[in-house]
Amino acid sequence: MIVRSLSLREHVCAQLRSLCVAVGLADAETPVSILTLLLGAVGERPPAEPPIWASHVSDDLTPVEFSLAIDEDGSPALRMLVEPIADGSGVLANNRVARRVLAALAERYDIPLDKFEEVWGLFAPGEPSGRFGMWFSVIFRRDAAPDFKVYFNPSARGEERAPALVAEALARLGLDAAYGLVRDRAATRPELDRLTFFALDLHSRSEARVKIYVSHYDAGLATVERAVDGVPGVALDRVREFYSIIGGDLDRRLTGLPSLSSYSFVTGNPDVPNNYSLYLPIRDLVPDDEAAAERVMTLMDQWGLDRPLLERSIEAVCARRLEDGVGLIAYASLRMGPDRSGITVYLSSEAYATMPPRSGARTAVQLSQANL
Ligand code: TRP
Repeated sequence: MIVRSLSLREHVCAQLRSLCVAVGLADAETPVSILTLLLGAVGERPPAEPPIWASHVSDDLTPVEFSLAIDEDGSPALRMLVEPIADGSGVLANNRVARRVLAALAERYDIPLDKFEEVWGLFAPGEPSGRFGMWFSVIFRRDAAPDFKVYFNPSARGEERAPALVAEALARLGLDAAYGLVRDRAATRPELDRLTFFALDLHSRSEARVKIYVSHYDAGLATVERAVDGVPGVALDRVREFYSIIGGDLDRRLTGLPSLSSYSFVTGNPDVPNNYSLYLPIRDLVPDDEAAAERVMTLMDQWGLDRPLLERSIEAVCARRLEDGVGLIAYASLRMGPDRSGITVYLSSEAYATMPPRSGARTAVQLSQANL
């Protein structure tokens, strides 16, 4: 039971500890200490007070989101996405704090920063625009050291410059050809397909990836099918199955929150993406979290994955009944590629707020208004 007088740090760290148990990670202390460091002073504020920064990490502005990634062989990873926040004054100050925190983490976990150094300046101008500057994600697996990722904002110099910025960042990383490949598949509809994230794996193993995300506004399955066209290791029937189960209907067009595509590339091999992922904003497609969980479980059954793993993880973060809100399960994603395919379920902390369910009655009203 989460008590209101906890600090934000206590609230999210309690969730993280429970998630570690749910996923079978023996060591919760390392994850908790990393989350504490990433949150910084903001973590000491009580969630009952308004947030000093409107974090885009989650709908209720909590700067932390958890996710459970499950490979097709059933092995899980626990992940968290965190936005370092300074004093609430803006992205410029947040970026400064983010770099300080990364330096501390790099020293503690021996993180190579060469690729980060190569590109961060592009995404961190003196007058940044957009809703965020840098986010970090940390990935925990059984019997392995944590892995770190940084997310940059392609719109940091204005949305119209996002394509040029992403192309330049890719070029600096030796991936010149990658941009055209993403553009031709996923960024084909002006205004409606937008470059939203640029992510770097922060480790020096050979599979260190650069990942480009495109949001698809007002899009249906055809946009997704075009996006996956020719990506090695992608099974179109799997994509359709995922789309119909999570979206609820193969013909569903997403006119509210966008779906996203991401492509990852490995340095030195710009001509083929080594992974494609599709993200569906399930929270926008269901009446409540009970329905969202049911769809994800149906998908897991199809894949022969362990329902109780997800049930335990949901219980770890959520003290309320699933039908009493929507947005706990923010996204579901399908990841496909030659080496590792799987699904990922994004779990909101809801430290600040729970979104009310869309009741049948309200849906009916919205529909009749839409028909006017
Ligand atoms: N909340 C943001 C969004 O919905 C960022 C985000 C958090 C996100 N987790 C995500 C985006 C998972 C895509 C997939 O865009």
